[in-house]
Amino acid sequence: MTTTPFGAPTAVRSTAVAARATDLTKVYGQGETQVVALDAVSVEFRQAEFTAIMGPSGSGKSTLMHCMAGLDSVSGGSARIGDTELTSLNDKKLTRLRRDKIGFIFQAFNLLPTLNALENITLPMDIAGRKPDQRWLDMVVDTVGLSGRLKHRPNQLSGGQQQRVAVARALAGRPEIMFADEPTGNLDSRSGAEVLGFLRNSVRELGQTVVMVTHDPVAASYADRVVFLADGRIVDEMRDPTADAVLDRMKRFDAKGRTS
Ligand SMILES: Nc1ncnc2c1ncn2[C@@H]1O[C@H](COP(=O)(O)OP(=O)(O)O)[C@@H](O)[C@H]1O
Ligand SMILES: [Mg+2]
Repeated sequence: MTTTPFGAPTAVRSTAVAARATDLTKVYGQGETQVVALDAVSVEFRQAEFTAIMGPSGSGKSTLMHCMAGLDSVSGGSARIGDTELTSLNDKKLTRLRRDKIGFIFQAFNLLPTLNALENITLPMDIAGRKPDQRWLDMVVDTVGLSGRLKHRPNQLSGGQQQRVAVARALAGRPEIMFADEPTGNLDSRSGAEVLGFLRNSVRELGQTVVMVTHDPVAASYADRVVFLADGRIVDEMRDPTADAVLDRMKRFDAKGRTS
């Protein structure tokens, strides 16, 4: 598999690796009900790059994300965030690493209804007893385009705005890497485009690293790179994707069925 930043949109791009899986394997269940969700997956996610993970339903996308983000244990192989090997961390250290280095965005926005937008954004830092870096926070809020709505509660915001609050919350602690699982799954296409545009800006303008699971070729086209999974294995990779090219590639999965 090529890792050259072929045709990368920016001339200068960091080649440092933000996260890496090596022969990562995840098996659920035992005996007859055993499911190999990840079958020796090796993949790198570079700093300041936006990667989309695509593949048919059940191909292991969420499992890969959860294992890389320290949300699920692995059965074999290695999962690293920066220089830290997740599989060797105890629960306490893993919790701290998730809190300090990883941002999460899920399909459900998971905002607290009684807190306003700004309070939701700074909640994880408040819980951790960390003071937000005000300049960074201002930049995040500005990039996310919520400056006029910080005092609004979630039910006073559209779905797209709520998800942007969730993205800002994930960004506020300046994580080393952000993982998003179907972040636009609950949004109409216009709100989805807002959120995807913002994720892309956070990579281009703030130098963030984003890994996003999606099954939507349009969502994937916002990424710098798409990694295709089938049956727990990486089967292809595409640089500078267009929605059409991604759709074509996905159709080949359907035509041939899943790779055996
Ligand atoms: N907690 C679990 N217990 C048992 N099997 C699971 C569990 N989570 C996922 N799986 C199985 O692992 C495979 C990959 O699932 P998943 O990573 O959720 O796929 P995707 O996100 O690509 O739809 C599927 O066959 C799924 O049924
Ligand atoms: Mg999934």
